[in-house]
Amino acid sequence: MQQHGKRRKTQVMSTNDKIQIGIIGAGGIGNVHLQEFGKVSEAQIVAVTDAYQPMAVERAKQYNIPKIYNTYQELLQDSSIDAVIIAVPNESHAPIAIDALQAGKHVLLEKPMAINAASAKEIMKTYLKSGKVLMMSHQMRWDSLNMQVKEQIDKGALGNIYNVKAGWMRRKGIPGWGTWFTRMHKAGGGPLIDLGVHMLDLSLHFMGSPKPVSVFGTTYAEFGPKKRGIGTWGKPDWDGFYDVEDLATALIKLDNGSTLTLDVSWAAHTTFQDNGPYIYLMGSEGGASLRGGKGVLHSELFDRTADVELTAPQDDEGPRVRMSRHFIESIRNNREPIASAMSGLTNSLVLEAIYESSRTGNVVTLDWNLD
Ligand SMILES: NC(=O)c1ccc[n+]([C@@H]2O[C@H](COP(=O)([O-])OP(=O)(O)OC[C@H]3O[C@@H](n4cnc5c(N)ncnc54)[C@H](O)[C@@H]3O)[C@@H](O)[C@H]2O)c1
Repeated sequence: MQQHGKRRKTQVMSTNDKIQIGIIGAGGIGNVHLQEFGKVSEAQIVAVTDAYQPMAVERAKQYNIPKIYNTYQELLQDSSIDAVIIAVPNESHAPIAIDALQAGKHVLLEKPMAINAASAKEIMKTYLKSGKVLMMSHQMRWDSLNMQVKEQIDKGALGNIYNVKAGWMRRKGIPGWGTWFTRMHKAGGGPLIDLGVHMLDLSLHFMGSPKPVSVFGTTYAEFGPKKRGIGTWGKPDWDGFYDVEDLATALIKLDNGSTLTLDVSWAAHTTFQDNGPYIYLMGSEGGASLRGGKGVLHSELFDRTADVELTAPQDDEGPRVRMSRHFIESIRNNREPIASAMSGLTNSLVLEAIYESSRTGNVVTLDWNLD
């Protein structure tokens, strides 16, 4: 993994104080963060802001949040706030994350890092100077089955992972038709940047973060422009517009010689992999399949195939609360979180290269230059 310099470190804070958090954006996923952080005793949500004020007021009432700010800039001026959760539409990720880091706040940033690679690079540059924690909100890394697979990978059980097939194929799942979700300049893309970023992030995490080198991909829009394939997340705005893809397919080559194929759709005439997320890891010593909430480890023993089924504990508290706790622990211990700024930038570079490959028809080499 390429390193662009070291993050400046700040003083470790007292372990007695709760980390004081402000939430910027209290819509669909903001609400989920509020629920999950409510379960983390070492943190307290003390302030909320939303561009739509009634939403901020409603959440403040719902979660007993003492302060409501009119703008995120006002929230960032509150010196009692240690960290912010940024849960706004994609186009605002970069400006708000940069302002927050410059205001001396730790940041939990919703995915994708930004709407394009240039904005992700600007976040990275600010982060490197900041001495603060910047973590990407990729909760799938903390899924129980995914963590069990990662543990086996780290023990060497899969050997060298040389090929991965990952994706998320929805049959009918276009979110918020006509809203920011389906506008290129606001979202940066369709299912590739929305769902694909999770599967790309998880794949690279499993593979040990090799550096992506080049990609070849194509995107399509067969449903969205015809107002078909509509899902249940977000409220449609039928006076709005749709100019993003609804399906993407890509081959990504990594610097260690391994390959990753990524397939995503918001809508397609298929029931491929039960319309949900999936990932197949192929290693020299073993493999793993994760699909439909099931996880299996594969190997060969005594000339026969051997599989081990994984199970999540009955009382599993869930990935999002573990992710929230990891953010707080990273702040407390002044440690780089596992869903790091570098992983966010890497994902953004790959996604942008896929879009460029689709536009040009060429294999695209990633541009890691931060200047
Ligand atoms: N990690 C996940 O699995 C996951 C799931 C869903 C959404 N997301 C991400 O979360 C982000 C938000 O998605 P959502 O579904 O919650 O969208 P949403 O439209 O439901 O909510 C976004 C909220 O942000 C507010 N907002 C917009 N600009 C703002 C600003 N400048 N300052 C303060 N508030 C502002 C809006 O008024 C709205 O209430 C997106 O980046 C999306 O990709 C992640």
